[in-house]
Amino acid sequence: MKDPSIRRSLALFRAFLHEQDDPESCYALLAQDAADQVEAYGAVEGRTVVDVGGGSGYFTEEFRRRGANAYLFEPDVRELGPKPPDSTVVADGYLLPLADGVADVCFSSNVLEHVADPQTFVSEMVRVTRPDGLIYVSFTNWLSPWGGHEWAPWHYLGAERARARYHRRTGKAAKHTLGENLFAVHIGTTLRQVRARDDVTVVSARSRYWPFLAGAVAKAPGLREFATWNLLLILRRCPP
Ligand SMILES: C[S@@+](CC[C@H](N)C(=O)[O-])C[C@H]1O[C@@H](n2cnc3c(N)ncnc32)[C@H](O)[C@@H]1O
Repeated sequence: MKDPSIRRSLALFRAFLHEQDDPESCYALLAQDAADQVEAYGAVEGRTVVDVGGGSGYFTEEFRRRGANAYLFEPDVRELGPKPPDSTVVADGYLLPLADGVADVCFSSNVLEHVADPQTFVSEMVRVTRPDGLIYVSFTNWLSPWGGHEWAPWHYLGAERARARYHRRTGKAAKHTLGENLFAVHIGTTLRQVRARDDVTVVSARSRYWPFLAGAVAKAPGLREFATWNLLLILRRCPP
């Protein structure tokens, strides 16, 4: 599906609506879409792809279907599910058990907002990527309407209040706690940090899901924090 396009965004939105009752179809579509976004910069066939914080492995499996040597690195065994991809490594993204420059593509989808130190996380992704290799980082920023995850959009009224409301309404404990496994990551700060690096160039900074103006929306200071929803960064590792 053309990216960006209304058809694609609608298909993704419909899949998100069924995330709870049909996670298989939802994540399969999301993985195909993300792999298409990576392949816009070159085919992954025969390439080494490292999927950091890839959960149960939908993205790794999709890259493998496309002929990549893809590996899942996930620190939380509960996220892996019953049947993780072969050769999955239980490992933290801060300290990947990989030599420098082994990956042609280092990929992380919706992980950055779950780490306390995003800069160190990105540095480790850069370290394992070869010169001229690609780094794909996407995250839901805090002020996005989805920033509070399962307790969104009530996070605009404060994280604790939103969590308590979620518990009251559903009877279930919320999965995320601000400052423990969800962090307030902002678009402006993240862009300034990656642009200040001398080991990567920013190839693209855009909304991951928007059907139009996907690049423009991420350029408008202030507005972008609310309107981007999810920032997709494509970085290229500079030669030494
Ligand atoms: C919202 S899930 C995203 C899963 C998958 N990448 C996706 O897009 O559907 C966040 C993932 O980040 C992982 N994560 C949290 N802290 C991490 C860390 N320090 N290093 C690597 N992964 C981490 C979690 O275990 C979880 O699988």
